[in-house]
Amino acid sequence: MANTMSSVSDALVLFGASGDLAFKKIFPALLSLVRRGRLNVPVIGVARAGFTREQFIERARASVTASGPIDEAAFAQLAGLLRYVDGNYNDPATFQQLGAALGDSRRPTYYLAIPPSMFPPVVVHLRDVAGTAEGRVIIEKPFGRDLASARALNETLHDVFPEKSIFRIDHYLGKEAVQNILYFRFANAFLEPLWNRDHVENVQITLAEDFGVKGRGKFYEETGVIRDVIQNHLLQVVSYLAMEAPANTYPEAIRDEQAKVLRTVRPLSVDKMVRGQVRGYRDEPGVAPDSYMATYAALRLDIDSWRWHGVPFYVRAGKSLKMTCTEVTVELKHAPPVVFTEPPPDRGNYVRFRLSPKVAIAIGARAITPGDAMKGESLELSVVEQPAQGNNGRLEAYDRLLGDAMVGDATLFARQDVVEAAWAVVDPVIHGPSALYEYEPGSWGPAEADRLVAPIGGWNTPE
Ligand code: BG6
Repeated sequence: MANTMSSVSDALVLFGASGDLAFKKIFPALLSLVRRGRLNVPVIGVARAGFTREQFIERARASVTASGPIDEAAFAQLAGLLRYVDGNYNDPATFQQLGAALGDSRRPTYYLAIPPSMFPPVVVHLRDVAGTAEGRVIIEKPFGRDLASARALNETLHDVFPEKSIFRIDHYLGKEAVQNILYFRFANAFLEPLWNRDHVENVQITLAEDFGVKGRGKFYEETGVIRDVIQNHLLQVVSYLAMEAPANTYPEAIRDEQAKVLRTVRPLSVDKMVRGQVRGYRDEPGVAPDSYMATYAALRLDIDSWRWHGVPFYVRAGKSLKMTCTEVTVELKHAPPVVFTEPPPDRGNYVRFRLSPKVAIAIGARAITPGDAMKGESLELSVVEQPAQGNNGRLEAYDRLLGDAMVGDATLFARQDVVEAAWAVVDPVIHGPSALYEYEPGSWGPAEADRLVAPIGGWNTPE
């Protein structure tokens, strides 16, 4: 990956230190960074939980032991780095305490693992704490609710931090399987001649989850599936699949190509979208009894570029579907049926990227079946196959991203123009009313979504 490596941060300040994200993702990532020798600076948790430093360390321990035994020596090292500041994010006194805890630190990284409504007061107070000039800030999605609010949020951040110091986490970009889309495309010469409208019939991306909103009803009512996973995670995936080759001779090459290709994705219209809501969603705590929020959406994207003109990109995502799986298939055009006298196969050649929970890259091909007749069958050539459990040396997304932010490498973070280009794609359909179809939990979503893919003979349903 290209990198914009500059100076290494000399402290990490974690706002939202008592929160869910810190518990589930951030402490395990910090422990892993310590184990790999990549974290050796003070980590200052900030929260309103009334913790003592010892209680904060206990919270960190509870987090990292939640999934099994840990490396005690590494944890002792991490505990030695942990500090804690208790206080309200609106109170200047909290930031004075933070300033004192930072001591001589000149280049802290501030991680805002807090609700977006709290970003403005925190960022404004940070201006008064030493260390914002050379400091960095990490923020979590959602980066706004639409194009206009994303721009407003950005102005707030830019009041204090320049763009090069803002690290917007989209954890999909931290997944190795997602990076492998880019790697596999551009580290192999055989794909590039095929990767265009002359040979690709369609592209499909499915992000299916077999669970619901898991108690996050209130959050989901504000968000819905398009803001939750399509505007960010899946459009980032689209950008990696569709971008031109980034010339790795300057640091921003990858993000420049992402922004460029996303600007050529045609803004959506309601006739290219089917929205669904799973039966039972309205009974969730925090969800309005007449909620019109989508827990499922299927879209047809068109990319108005020389490479992709006329090739539909179908994207669908949903909660409470039949299985949990994120998968991309790039379907190639069929071979002409003039050589072998057999009925045309259901599927031609394709490239399949399974991004989670298992990781796979496979190529669909046809080969002869044993026997007298000159008959073929579809088979898959497996290039990469890794189980869901056991990470085979792969880094977890937060582990990689936090490490990158601490050394100032922003390649795998969402740049503002990329975020805005992605909002511009979905903006026309997220405000106005549009049809909403109910679907059954455990299904593949509303049957109406099939109409989008009727021209290509249906969805490629993951198995
Ligand atoms: C998050 C969404 O960003 O991504 C969740 O808020 C979703 O709703 C999750 O479940 C999917 O990512 P992963 O890595 O957990 O599969």
